[in-house]
Amino acid sequence: MRLPPFSLIFPLVSLLFSFSFATQNFEFVQCLESQNADFSISSSNILYTPQASSYSSILQISIQNLVFNSSTTLKPTFIITPLDESHVQATVICSSKHQLQLRIRSGGHDYEGLSYISNAPFVLIDLVNLRKVDVNLSDNTAWVQAGAILGEVYYSIFNQSKVHGFPAGVCPTIGVGGHISGGGQGTLMRKYGLAADNVVDAKIVDAKGNILDRRSPAGEDLFWAIRGGGGGSFGVILSWKITLVKVPPLVTIFTARRTLEQGAEELVNRWQQTADKFHEDLFIRVIISRANDSRGGKTVGAAFNSLFLGTIKELLPLMTNSFPELGLKAEECREMSWLETILYFDNGYPNGISIDSLLNRTRLNKPYFKAKSDFVKTPIPITGLKGLSELFLDDNAGIMIMDPYGGKMSSISKSKLHSLIEEEPCTISNILRVGIRMILK
Ligand SMILES: Cc1cc2nc3c(=O)[nH]c(=O)nc-3n(C[C@H](O)[C@H](O)[C@H](O)COP(=O)(O)OP(=O)(O)OC[C@H]3O[C@@H](n4cnc5c(N)ncnc54)[C@H](O)[C@@H]3O)c2cc1C
Ligand SMILES: *[C@@H]1O[C@H](CO)[C@@H](O)[C@H](O)[C@H]1NC(C)=O
Ligand SMILES: *[C@@H]1O[C@H](CO)[C@@H](O)[C@H](O)[C@H]1NC(C)=O
Ligand SMILES: *[C@@H]1O[C@H](CO)[C@@H](O)[C@H](O)[C@H]1NC(C)=O
Ligand SMILES: *[C@@H]1O[C@H](CO)[C@@H](O)[C@H](O)[C@H]1NC(C)=O
Ligand SMILES: *[C@@H]1O[C@H](CO)[C@@H](O)[C@H](O)[C@H]1NC(C)=O
Repeated sequence: MRLPPFSLIFPLVSLLFSFSFATQNFEFVQCLESQNADFSISSSNILYTPQASSYSSILQISIQNLVFNSSTTLKPTFIITPLDESHVQATVICSSKHQLQLRIRSGGHDYEGLSYISNAPFVLIDLVNLRKVDVNLSDNTAWVQAGAILGEVYYSIFNQSKVHGFPAGVCPTIGVGGHISGGGQGTLMRKYGLAADNVVDAKIVDAKGNILDRRSPAGEDLFWAIRGGGGGSFGVILSWKITLVKVPPLVTIFTARRTLEQGAEELVNRWQQTADKFHEDLFIRVIISRANDSRGGKTVGAAFNSLFLGTIKELLPLMTNSFPELGLKAEECREMSWLETILYFDNGYPNGISIDSLLNRTRLNKPYFKAKSDFVKTPIPITGLKGLSELFLDDNAGIMIMDPYGGKMSSISKSKLHSLIEEEPCTISNILRVGIRMILK
């Protein structure tokens, strides 16, 4: 039998496909309406199709890596912005029933855009409207909805108490849904551990659309898995119950920049030997990047970027004992509130910026980037650091961030996290995390 030329088959096939696709979409919407009356009464602020006027802005606001803001990226068939937990349940049930893939987005900071891209037709649940933060100072906890960004969490805690905080990431627009489920590290981790170590309960929608918490059958196992196992692998997290931690009313920050000529390589080498053994109130990370020397020539800079949970007066003798090689001077340090340090670590706390900008979900100057992280279990030898320097002399080199662990990070045993795992001292005591970030455009 002779087949008609491909060009004749193709329109027919695509017509059939789009017909069945349209039916599938129609049935999906019908399903939502039958599951939850809100979708039939007024779905215009919950459900968006590509024809809706605000579809593009809702999709784009939380695309944090512009590599995935391209016109060739497959766009969601529907965006759902739940106003209520029941809207999430209905969406899970109906996506499953009508074989539409599901993507869950809280802050959109996924390095590879996994929360909003797919290679098959999909529904995007964007939790932007589920972002309440309920702080309870009588037991030092807060219920935080998954769509809240870290800036909102920090701001809301500080709004109630100047001596409480939460140990999580440095970038205020990160969503807690994806962040805590992957661990969540930041400047307080040497004192208090990861964000996931400071969670006591969670609410999650499973694949059948049920809302579970820690007390549900098998809830303890699920609760263990979602604190590090990654968002999206186990269901849709609706909210976390977090524990607040103590911070002093005044803390100290510094960024001591040293170039190759000022011995940057030797300092980083020394830092690698000791940073995990510093006092737990002292967090010093290192950011390596291309820099200019005093004569305007090309060099490499190591920025020792630090938060200390105390005053400058308390910090200086500690530095003399722990890291005299850096030669830190009082003039390089600044005291501020813990909340202000969030803006400082994010963008250097530019003059005139208001603390209220922590509530802003729109990042200024969004980048096109590629980033990778790894754990370094033994210090990179000085020859390795010298090799890295050569790479960073390139104008197009990215930046490398080295985070120290130790302190609380080496004292949390695996058994504490899960009753099924035998007692075994954690072996990550002197691990550093190294993240490399390249700006692509
Ligand atoms: C600029 C930048 C700075 C960063 N800084 C830090 C840092 O200081 N410390 C640190 O530890 N990490 C940092 N990260 C990494 C960040 O913590 C992770 O990318 C985290 O997963 C982002 O969470 P999100 O909700 O913003 O992202 P999303 O892109 O919304 O989600 C990330 C993943 O989690 C899933 N997910 C999201 N919400 C839910 C939910 N409610 N239920 C189930 N699954 C969900 C998504 O489907 C996706 O797979 C940074 C990332 C960027 C881009
Ligand atoms: C994302 O892409 C859209 C469509 O091309 C464009 O209008 C928008 O400005 C882009 N967003 C950013 C932040 O560049
Ligand atoms: C705050 O915590 C206390 C002590 O656990 C509890 O009795 C109270 O109900 C909580 N308040 C709210 C609003 O949840
Ligand atoms: C801060 O607290 C005030 C008074 O309690 C309240 O009105 C306001 O909404 C709070 N702001 C935030 C962002 O939590
Ligand atoms: C180095 O100097 C050049 C020329 O003045 C400038 O364009 C560049 O931004 C500087 N680079 C850094 C990392 O400061
Ligand atoms: C939020 O930040 C963006 C980018 O910096 C800015 O354009 C916008 O005006 C800010 N929004 C508010 C409400 O401050």
